[in-house]
Amino acid sequence: VDESDMTLIKMHEYLTDLYHHVLMHTNEGEEALKYLTDRGFSADIIKKEKIGITPNMRDFTKNALLNQNFSMESAYQAGLVSRNEENFSYYDRFVSRIMIPIKNHQNYIVGYTARSLDGSEPKYLNTPETPVFQKRELLFNLSDARKFIRKQDEIILMEGHLDVIKVKMTDVQNIVGLMGTALSGENINLIKRLASNVTLMFDSDNAGRKAATSVGETLLFEGLNVFIIQLPEGEDPDEYIEKHGREKFEQLVQKQKRHFVHFQADHLLDESMENDLSYTQNLNKLINYLKYVPGNTLKERIITHISDSYKVSKEHILSSIPSQTENVN
Ligand code: CTP
Ligand code: MN
Ligand code: MN
Ligand code: MN
Ligand code: MN
Repeated sequence: VDESDMTLIKMHEYLTDLYHHVLMHTNEGEEALKYLTDRGFSADIIKKEKIGITPNMRDFTKNALLNQNFSMESAYQAGLVSRNEENFSYYDRFVSRIMIPIKNHQNYIVGYTARSLDGSEPKYLNTPETPVFQKRELLFNLSDARKFIRKQDEIILMEGHLDVIKVKMTDVQNIVGLMGTALSGENINLIKRLASNVTLMFDSDNAGRKAATSVGETLLFEGLNVFIIQLPEGEDPDEYIEKHGREKFEQLVQKQKRHFVHFQADHLLDESMENDLSYTQNLNKLINYLKYVPGNTLKERIITHISDSYKVSKEHILSSIPSQTENVN
């Protein structure tokens, strides 16, 4: 972290306290505070995460930074203000939004994800790529979750920032949020250094299942043990906790973890039974996945499960698994 990076970080540290103050102690924050409280976020967690609000003004952030003797060039570089290219004036990027600070892996605040309050689009506006905010390098909440991840040798990945924050109100702490649904090479290397088990807990909707399949495949091919926690249809972790309570959530995390290949086997079964073409393609896909499952009790269990549900002998499955050296699909 060099000096100019430190200036960008200092702006974020200053503004985060200011936005948090506006949320907690001013009329401008009332509506947002009620919104967060109604969604089940406690005052404790709002303080701990330093959640804030930008008021409905075009120059709140701009003036606050100027008053602190920060330059508009630096503020622009930090992605905190936008620039009118015709008259070179600056104006706030974030207006009337719930500000969720994003910390880098050294625990410095480097950006925000900002949720609209009134349903206006986009629902989330994020800090753009800046010298200190590079999405491919970041995993939301990693600096807080790291010690729990190491201790449990497991990292739980979620889609939404508010999901991660809500889950932090429970006993489950080894959680991080993806910065978007794709996983960067940097993310993968980092995850591999931290834990050998990765659990995906994505939204139970089509987008979430699609993401779980692609992220899960990538991590499996990288040699990690990948598990899936499936939520009831249509729910995300935050909604699950609101609907079923914290204890049920903790039990779910303790008790319901299917290996990625087991999950895919179940997921692909429906379309396979009356369609011989899909049956063949899906079974071959599962057999190829099995190459990446270390030979142990779990592999034996998954093979038995596939054998039972796809009505194919275990011998056939075992003899079809491609060897580690040749790459048969
Ligand atoms: N996302 C985004 N821009 C959007 C919608 C989604 O960047 N317009 C990202 C955000 O990181 C968001 C994640 O995708 O957290 C998951 O999207 P979604 O499930 O729609 O949002 P939630 O996190 O569930 O947000 P909320 O509960 O506030 O609706
Ligand atoms: Mn979703
Ligand atoms: Mn949600
Ligand atoms: Mn969601
Ligand atoms: Mn099953």
